[in-house]
Amino acid sequence: MSLSTEPAPSRPSSPEIGALTSEVLELKRRRNAILLAHNYQLGEIQDLADHVGDSLYLSRKAMETDAKVILFSGVRFMAETAKILNPSKMVLLPDLEAGCSLSDAITAPQLRAWKAEHPGAVVVSYVNTSAEVKAESDYCCTSSNALAIVRRIPEDKEVLFLPDMFLGDYVKRQTGRKNVHLWPGDCFVHTKMRPETVLRMRKEHPGAELIAHPECGCSTEVLPEVDRVLSTDGMMRYAGETKSPQVLVATEIGILHRMRKVNPSTQFVPLSPDAVCPFMKKNTLEKVRDSLRDLRFQIDVPAAIIPRARRALERMVEG
Ligand code: 13P
Ligand code: SF4
Repeated sequence: MSLSTEPAPSRPSSPEIGALTSEVLELKRRRNAILLAHNYQLGEIQDLADHVGDSLYLSRKAMETDAKVILFSGVRFMAETAKILNPSKMVLLPDLEAGCSLSDAITAPQLRAWKAEHPGAVVVSYVNTSAEVKAESDYCCTSSNALAIVRRIPEDKEVLFLPDMFLGDYVKRQTGRKNVHLWPGDCFVHTKMRPETVLRMRKEHPGAELIAHPECGCSTEVLPEVDRVLSTDGMMRYAGETKSPQVLVATEIGILHRMRKVNPSTQFVPLSPDAVCPFMKKNTLEKVRDSLRDLRFQIDVPAAIIPRARRALERMVEG
């Protein structure tokens, strides 16, 4: 898969958005489709989705839907997860280049080799992985339940946590476990949010609260500077409840659209305005329309992989 990171194409005007929105709604009805959108999707896609949320919430929605078609406006591992959890549905991804550099950080052969070095270890894979890697895993987790899942594993068991080292390090510190081994992967969008950025922004915005995604490069070294470490839905719940006049948000900037809608009295400021995931932004409203109209791009997972990957994913959606 290409990992090109060229800038997203220019945005449609308001009347174009209105016309495309009507087309998508009509096609969705005709196809008996459900539209799931991740919190990092463009605002106009979020606005017409049936459900907007984080990886865990959307996985659960994909698993329980009765619709015939699941149109996943997110990235490929999310659509694959939907297919594994609900294999009889047609799962569509608007753009096949909507990958994830973090999920490419480890392959199934690499994981098999790592497991061979630690016989008996329990493998916990972040949901940002390929279906093949999930099939080699004991548990999957998301940023919202990684801590809870690792806490479920007996203390004396070694844990291989992959592929995000910042999330893994956060889990390791919070659980106090020394026997959690980390794969050295990271998300190139979140890793750029460094401790120096946090310290500078803290100075420039005295009194503001700071919330950060655990994939951030700042979530470990300057943890005391961060008020909350949260998944994107955890951030959304916080955004809806906070009375703070200003909040610094350390994650991909797509989430600000929803935050500003749920709480217009708080000012939400991105920690890094250039924290844009080019993979998430491959999806546009036009591609969502084309996807439903032409039933493309259908995401399939080899039948031999589904049962093993599903076992790890079911533990994730339960936990
Ligand atoms: P969430 O599950 O917190 O939405 O994170 C997904 C992701 O890809 C973050 O970069
Ligand atoms: Fe992957 Fe990072 Fe984009 Fe999330 S923000 S989809 S982890 S590349």
